[in-house]
Amino acid sequence: MNTVTVEVGLGDRAYDILIGPGLLARSGAEIAKRLPGIRTAIVTDDNVAAAHLGALTAGLAAGGIEAVPIIVPAGEKTKSFDALQVVVDGVLSARLERGDAVVALGGGVVGDLAGFAAGIVRRGMNFVQMPTSLLAQVDSSVGGKTGINSAHGKNLVGVFHQPRIVLADTDVLDTLPEREFRAGYAEVAKYGLIDRPDFFAWLEKNWQEVFAGGAARTEAIAQSCRAKAEVVARDEFETGDRALLNLGHTFGHALEAATGYDSARLVHGEGVAIGMALAYRFSSRLNLASPDDAARVETHLRAVGLPWRMADIPGSLPDAERLLGYIAQDKKVSRGALTFILTRGVGQSFIARDVPASEVLSFLTENHPG
Ligand SMILES: NC(=O)c1ccc[n+]([C@@H]2O[C@H](COP(=O)([O-])OP(=O)(O)OC[C@H]3O[C@@H](n4cnc5c(N)ncnc54)[C@H](O)[C@@H]3O)[C@@H](O)[C@H]2O)c1
Ligand SMILES: [Zn+2]
Repeated sequence: MNTVTVEVGLGDRAYDILIGPGLLARSGAEIAKRLPGIRTAIVTDDNVAAAHLGALTAGLAAGGIEAVPIIVPAGEKTKSFDALQVVVDGVLSARLERGDAVVALGGGVVGDLAGFAAGIVRRGMNFVQMPTSLLAQVDSSVGGKTGINSAHGKNLVGVFHQPRIVLADTDVLDTLPEREFRAGYAEVAKYGLIDRPDFFAWLEKNWQEVFAGGAARTEAIAQSCRAKAEVVARDEFETGDRALLNLGHTFGHALEAATGYDSARLVHGEGVAIGMALAYRFSSRLNLASPDDAARVETHLRAVGLPWRMADIPGSLPDAERLLGYIAQDKKVSRGALTFILTRGVGQSFIARDVPASEVLSFLTENHPG
């Protein structure tokens, strides 16, 4: 039925990611196969609820699974202690047991929040991911990182809690706003740029089909999930090369912070797109990669309509020194040294510790739109 299965190899916590059309309708059957006899709470946001909650409830019922909905407001602000309490209370009022499941139906916000709740209610309940944004289907729903934000920063409170199954229904992406789809595509391209040069070349040729939907879209999502699953299986708790997944994120997070997390100016995937272009340009400035590789990355991001340089962000940015300050605050700083994901070429990224702050500062100064 055009469904691709990708396994995340984590021993007795291994799970399948199912990718393809029509999975909302089949959700009850797929979940009941793996978790027979359970009840569920569906955590979702108001946008996704309006478009897909009915179909999911019906799909679960078709497999004999009862579901209690818990609807939270859409948006990053929902990754909060307040919303966590709403979800936890909702799960407990529904009298769900440890063996029952919390189902996340939504983008990364809902997945991170619901996964955290599943990880802590009754010391860890079953968790099912049904990602509905492209970013969630290729990135946040896989790998078990869950959590919320604190006044001190993003994603600072959370647990590792792997799902029991991920159901990525590619049809639900049809209701995703175009800008969100494009932002999620930055994370797809990221896997090619980390260590899959053939995948990046395939995307350069086929990105229009990926945007259009159908088999190419399923294939791009499956390739991305395979790439992430491989890294997660090697390094579940990010003690080593899981950090490669942060390609573009050190610059990207700094730009998100510098724009006050104002999604009208920049959403996460757009920050990652600019961040990846900067990581390639910076690598070329350090004579690690050729300028042609940096140009190739910029050309592709521009072709798909993603921002690729700081000047593409509407409004003015803090100066280079303050941007460096945001980079230094990022959590990937260990004992004063800056850690970056740099590259020797397309698909040849590596973790560079001890990147001198002075180099970063002159690079930011040169590339600052002023
Ligand atoms: N846990 C991880 O490993 C991980 C990895 C990457 C990102 N994240 C987190 O993911 C979050 C970003 O995720 P996101 O980009 O999915 O944001 P999001 O969850 O806010 O979704 C983006 C917007 O799209 C809407 N939406 C989602 N699916 C839709 C659909 N099918 N139809 C219509 N509207 C839909 C949402 O309501 C929201 O308004 C961030 O909080 C980030 O920290 C986590
Ligand atoms: Zn990301």
